[in-house]
Amino acid sequence: MPSDLTPELIATLHQRATEAARNSYSPYSHFRVGAAILLHADDRQPGAIVAGTNVENASYRLTSCAEQAAIAAAVTLYGPAIRISAVAVANLNSADCMPCGACRQTILEFASPDTPVFYPSATGETVATTLANLLPAAFQLAPE
Ligand code: THU
Repeated sequence: MPSDLTPELIATLHQRATEAARNSYSPYSHFRVGAAILLHADDRQPGAIVAGTNVENASYRLTSCAEQAAIAAAVTLYGPAIRISAVAVANLNSADCMPCGACRQTILEFASPDTPVFYPSATGETVATTLANLLPAAFQLAPE
């Protein structure tokens, strides 16, 4: 675990993810998810936190996950060079909730295999893992 990722910062990420979940648009699943991503700090900007929530659609397959919403918001706010230092996922359903496969691959686009990911277990504790643990065989484009 990176040393700058203090318990307070992890708690803040969890809180931001939980707050985002309150805005969930999930009339079909009623599963209210939030995600918060911590961005790399740079000279001008301390590590920013950007959150997102799931936005469902009557077609079901057009649903956007909370993690994807957070990443889209971060790119919109800070541009295409963002890098993710950590990810926290939360839900208001008292359920365990790991990022889905598509979200794992989406996170990897802006993160590295050792990026910490925090998610709630079924018993409510926060589980800490890494992206590589969640996505050991990530898709990569073959070098040209
Ligand atoms: N969901 C997320 O927001 N993130 C995930 O990683 C898994 C699933 C949402 C999508 C859908 O709105 C609801 O949870 C039920 O699948």
